[in-house]
Amino acid sequence: MNNMKFDYTRALGFAGKEAIEGYSAITSQSNEALHLKTGKGNDFLGWVKLPGMISGIELADIENTARRLLDKKIDLLVVVGIGGSYLGAKAVIDALSDNFAALKPGTHPLVVFAGQNISEDYLFELRELLSQKEYALVVISKSGTTTEPAIAFRLLKQDIETRYGKAEARERIVAVTDASRGALRKLADSEGYKTYVIPDDVGGRYSVLTPVGLIAIAVAGFDIRQLVEGAADMEKLTAPGVPFSENPAEQYAAVRNELYRKGYMVEIMVNYNPKLHYFAEWWKQLYGESEGKEGKGIFPASVDFTSDLHSMGQYIQEGERKLFETVISVGSPDQTVEIPVDPDNLDGLNFLAGKRVDEVNKMAELGTAIAHVDGGVPNLQISVPRLNEYYLGQLIYFFEKACGISGYVLGVNPFDQPGVEAYKKNMFALLEKPGFEEETKAIKARL
Ligand code: PA5
Repeated sequence: MNNMKFDYTRALGFAGKEAIEGYSAITSQSNEALHLKTGKGNDFLGWVKLPGMISGIELADIENTARRLLDKKIDLLVVVGIGGSYLGAKAVIDALSDNFAALKPGTHPLVVFAGQNISEDYLFELRELLSQKEYALVVISKSGTTTEPAIAFRLLKQDIETRYGKAEARERIVAVTDASRGALRKLADSEGYKTYVIPDDVGGRYSVLTPVGLIAIAVAGFDIRQLVEGAADMEKLTAPGVPFSENPAEQYAAVRNELYRKGYMVEIMVNYNPKLHYFAEWWKQLYGESEGKEGKGIFPASVDFTSDLHSMGQYIQEGERKLFETVISVGSPDQTVEIPVDPDNLDGLNFLAGKRVDEVNKMAELGTAIAHVDGGVPNLQISVPRLNEYYLGQLIYFFEKACGISGYVLGVNPFDQPGVEAYKKNMFALLEKPGFEEETKAIKARL
């Protein structure tokens, strides 16, 4: 079977081969530190060996829970969570779903999300929709105390209990949280929900291959065993001891750090398939939250091409020269659409007649890469043969492993997120949360 490939040939004009290979000692030490747990944040390294360790029993339990929810003939599964407790499932489900799934009722329920924002309109409109549908809830919070999902769950819990009665609502709610800490654990235990534990040593943004991501992905009808198998194979392909020349995670970490050292401060994740939009959102959280600290770090951005070539393309081609691109290239689409001949050829497109739409997309991809390199934008390419569970599993583990290595090379702790607390403190102070009296006084004096 072909594996995911990483190609940095189109960055060599910007970061020399020798300089990149010069990182091999530090990337290999960093990789080892992840496995031996000798680096920063070493109590959050449960994800490193997770794919190879997930047991068939754990997967079967998740599949059984999914089946139990599906037996209720639900139209919708609502996943309540934010950040790492939502983006992984959203990324995988979108990557594998029909683009128009919401408008084509299929064999599996649609998965929708809540608690990933505090928009009143969003919650109103979701609740209005749910009042006309059959549904179940999965509520996810590692800390069990995050405000956004807590508000959404308080509302949706009342709705589901009113709709189905307390006993049946209990059958339709699954909670994923810490083994013992947090308000959600207390609530789930006291209500008697089916619960899953987010391991202590797996941080939110590294948790998609735990029940955090797997339950929703299974309910959506996708093969979680293939996803985990792809990740487990990538665990082997990026293991310490795999030489730098063959280790894509170490290479990607090296190239990004060398480009950053040379002043390339923004990395743009590029796709040519709208199904990958949320995969880039997941990647942005992973890299942004892992590396953006201590006044350092590449800013992760994303674009959907070719759509965004008609909006952001100008800037990328000719704006500030601080950008590099990482393209996720998918070998073959799942479907076939050929461009037809038109005898009148009024649109002048007969030169494309008989070609598949994907051939045009691929030439757009190649032409853009060359144009952007000519314009001063280093281009990295990550390619997978197809967009399926197995290759998404490979991509997920590849990016996680490379992120850990890259963070260590940068000299930060890639597993904490101290900066996320600042807005919360201000929000609680402004909302006059008990315990924040001093902060309330201080912030109000600034208004
Ligand atoms: O990566 C992280 O740890 C964060 O983004 C969290 O996933 C996010 O803040 C949600 O936290 P929790 O799952 O505790 O509600």
